[in-house]
Amino acid sequence: MAVYRNTFSESVNSDSLTISSDVDPALVEEVRTGLQKTPKSLSSMFFYDAEGSRLFAEIMHSPDYYLTRSEYEILDTQKADILRKFTPDNRPFELVELGAGDGLKTKILLGYFDLQKVDFTYAPVDISVDALDDLVIDVRKQWPGLQLNPRHDDYFSALEHLSTETDSRKVVLFLGSNIGNFTPEEAINFYQQLYNRLQPGDLILTGFDLQKHPAVIHAAYNDRQGLTRAFNLNLLRRINRELEADFDLSAFDHYETYNPENGEARSYLVSQKAQTVAIKALDMSVSFCYGEIIHTEISRKFNRIQIEQLAQQTGFSMTGWFTDCKGYFADVVFER
Ligand code: AVI
Repeated sequence: MAVYRNTFSESVNSDSLTISSDVDPALVEEVRTGLQKTPKSLSSMFFYDAEGSRLFAEIMHSPDYYLTRSEYEILDTQKADILRKFTPDNRPFELVELGAGDGLKTKILLGYFDLQKVDFTYAPVDISVDALDDLVIDVRKQWPGLQLNPRHDDYFSALEHLSTETDSRKVVLFLGSNIGNFTPEEAINFYQQLYNRLQPGDLILTGFDLQKHPAVIHAAYNDRQGLTRAFNLNLLRRINRELEADFDLSAFDHYETYNPENGEARSYLVSQKAQTVAIKALDMSVSFCYGEIIHTEISRKFNRIQIEQLAQQTGFSMTGWFTDCKGYFADVVFER
C-alpha cells in the first residue's frame, strides 16, 4: 500500500537543524510531536518505507491475515455481479483506484472486464512512483489494449484532475480495508471529500473488514510468523535510519489489542525496560519507562449498520454489498 506522500526534494531547515533532503517532513513532525505526547504515538502511515512495503506484502500472503484472501475471493467469485453494478447500462466508465499498489486484487477485475470487452479506462492513483511504474508495465504487458490513465498523486488532487478530464461515470476503488486505518472522523471526512468531487451516479467500491470472532482478528495482527511484529518494529528502524536515532529494536516488543466492543484493533510498541533514545537529527532525546507504549496503528472493523450509517452521513446511498463465504469481509458500493 502506498497511500501517503513520502519524499520531498529540498532540504528542510527545521528549528535551525538541517535534515537530509530524503526525509519526509511529515515524518519529522510526527516523531517530534508524537513522542512527546502522553501516551506516545506514531502514525501507521509511516510504516511503508521499502522494507515496510515488503513486509506488508508478506503479511498479505500469510495464513493468519485473512483480509486479503477474503477480498480476493469476493472479487474472483462475484466479478460478474460487480461489473453489472458498475455499468448496468453498458456505458463506458473510468475505474479510479486510490492507493493502487501492486493492483493484485484489481487485476482480477481488469482481466474479466477485458475478456468481456467492457469499455473502460483504468486510472490507478498512487503516491509511490515506483509502485505505479511497476503496475503500469505489468498491466500493459498483460492487457496491451487496455486504456490506462495512471496518476502519481495523492487521492484528492488526483480526483480533482480526473473529474475534469472526462465526463464518463467514475467508479472509485478503495480496497484492502485501508478505510480501517482512518479514525471515525477521518473516514467521514474522506467520503465527504469524495462526495464533493464526484457526480451523481458515480460509485465507490470500498473494502471493509467486518467484525467477527475476536480471536480471528487478534490472530491476524499477531501472526505466527512474526511478520506483523517485524512490520511494527520496522518503524523504529526507519526512524533510526532517516533521523539518526538509536532505538534498540530488541528493547521494544510488538503488542496488539482487539476490543470487540468498538471494533478497534490497536498496535503498540512496548518498551521492555527504562531507557532513553537519542534522535540526533531532531536534537531530541526521549525517555521510556519500563512497559511504556507507543501507539502505532488502528485497524477498525465494521458492522453493516455502521457502514450504512457512514454512507448516509456523507450523502451516499449504499447500493451494493458483496461478501466472502465466511462473512469476514465486505466490498461495498456507495452511490453518489
Ligand atoms: C493497510 N492496512 C489495511 C493493514 C491493516 O490491516 O490495518 C495494515 C496492517 N497492519 C498490520 N497488518 C496489516
